[in-house]
Amino acid sequence: MAFDLGTPVNTALLIYILYLLQRIVFPSNSISKTIPTEFKNGYSWMPKSHPPTLLYQTYTPKTLSPFNGEDGKRILLAIDGVVYDVTAGRNFYGPNGMYANFSGRDASRGMAKQSFELDMLTPIDQPLDKLDDLTPAEIDNMKGWMEHFSTKYIVCGKLVENDAV
Ligand code: HEM
Repeated sequence: MAFDLGTPVNTALLIYILYLLQRIVFPSNSISKTIPTEFKNGYSWMPKSHPPTLLYQTYTPKTLSPFNGEDGKRILLAIDGVVYDVTAGRNFYGPNGMYANFSGRDASRGMAKQSFELDMLTPIDQPLDKLDDLTPAEIDNMKGWMEHFSTKYIVCGKLVENDAV
């Protein structure tokens, strides 16, 4: 059967096929300026900048302490030698947050004893808290918080003694 271009349906089909072919041969590479709201646009969209990268680092109580979230800076805290970036929890740990006392500090004892009293914190020029007087239940409580933190925040370093680096 001959392909009759005189038929409007065939003409329309031919135009549509040519349109599809040119989409394949000359794909659009324009990048959407607005944040995509549906997945298919996401393939051709690039964010303005790369998200900040986090380097795993060794911290001491002194080098950890500036990361207390003041002036909008990152917020780190340590539990049992593991340093977490809790910047995403700024409402909790930022300067006016309920748990701001833990920011930039070794929070192990406070987490273990479920207390944000300031005497839970070891002064930053002192040796690390050995935690050897904690009860098994307190250690369990601390480990529970570490589990919670590892589902929510990024581990970005370890905490060692001031004179270890
Ligand atoms: C006055 C009693 C307290 C109240 C009413 C309270 C309330 C809360 C609430 C509502 C949350 C948020 C839960 C969520 O959305 O996941 C939370 C989380 C938390 N609370 Fe408390 N809390 C209290 C005492 C404490 C104490 C004494 C500690 C000391 C360790 C503590 C440590 C935390 C921590 C570490 C989180 C997790 C925050 C995060 O996910 O980054 N809380 N608390």
